[in-house]
Amino acid sequence: MPQKERTKQQKEKVPAFTDISELPGVGPATTEKLKEIGYSTVEALATATISELEAAGIGEKKAQELIELARETIEISWVTAKDLVKYRSSIGRLTSGSKALDAMIGGGVETQSITEFFGEFGSGKSQICHQLAVNVQLPEERGGLNGAALYIDTENTFRVERIEAMAKHLGLDTDAVLDRIVYAEAYNSDHQMLLLEKADRIIKDNGVKLIIVDSLTAHFRSEYIGREMLAERQQKLNKHMHKLLRLARAFNAASVVTNQVMARPDEFFSPMVVSPVGGHIVGHTSHTRLFIRKTAGKNLRIVRLVSSPYLPEGEVLIKITQDGIEDVEESEREELRRR
Ligand code: GTP
Ligand code: MG
Repeated sequence: MPQKERTKQQKEKVPAFTDISELPGVGPATTEKLKEIGYSTVEALATATISELEAAGIGEKKAQELIELARETIEISWVTAKDLVKYRSSIGRLTSGSKALDAMIGGGVETQSITEFFGEFGSGKSQICHQLAVNVQLPEERGGLNGAALYIDTENTFRVERIEAMAKHLGLDTDAVLDRIVYAEAYNSDHQMLLLEKADRIIKDNGVKLIIVDSLTAHFRSEYIGREMLAERQQKLNKHMHKLLRLARAFNAASVVTNQVMARPDEFFSPMVVSPVGGHIVGHTSHTRLFIRKTAGKNLRIVRLVSSPYLPEGEVLIKITQDGIEDVEESEREELRRR
């Protein structure tokens, strides 16, 4: 729960630790051990498991104490259903650039959970990521989260020029926008996992409100080939996604991942029958899944809400232009119908 929502009583009970080194019993050696496994902040430590800390050489009892202390500090504990209402109200919404798409997903990409865009090559997944990395910087009244973006790029498809064009279109200072996108290229799946495991300090120090992994699955797919490696791949993907989810919750950030699927031209019934990489693992951890596909209209894409914890399925049309992601005009819709 965000610190500002702490009750007076709770505030008095637990002193606020802002850094792990301030926690009682944490000397330089333990601080180092925690940092090595990606727990540089109290927020992230609150989401750790005892076995993770044990594996780093911290005793079970101490591990338990530290996690509990971190949790008390940021108040991850039992809450009443009434508190949940308040808790949910802290969830932020990030505009995609298309009002129609925002409306379908309940007002924009939400914080504290994972949103997955899946679709075939060139369907626009990376373009959406670029747009969100710009939009997150907008003030709340313009649909942003007034924060920075963390961009993990696995296929070297991030383009500064696209960011500049989108920022310019929104009347933003392009230099300032570029300055608030913290970028890293992941060279393989292990590196990708490591980047996220060590991201908590960067997220906190930069005020990151959006974590992007584009693509979530490409490295895993190319490295873990064949049936005998499937279990290991799924286990690692699962771990990676859970880390992502925990960071999103700890920092009230949105997290967006992409996943390429093969279109199956032989598929007679529906282009929906595709098999995203990662299968059930990715499906169950992504809270909102959106399938994006090309249309006969060159710039037009159909985005389908395939699953959401509380919203009905739906479909909207969006447009990808030089300026970014936009709504589709009625005249363009007509044109598509006539084709
Ligand atoms: P993979 O990563 O290969 O799976 O594809 P993707 O889903 O990430 O596709 P991406 O987001 O890279 O979309 C590429 C498509 O976006 C292009 O084929 C264009 O249709 C569109 N696009 C990209 N940049 C521009 C632009 O500046 N102007 C216009 N009009 N369209 C663009
Ligand atoms: Mg892409």
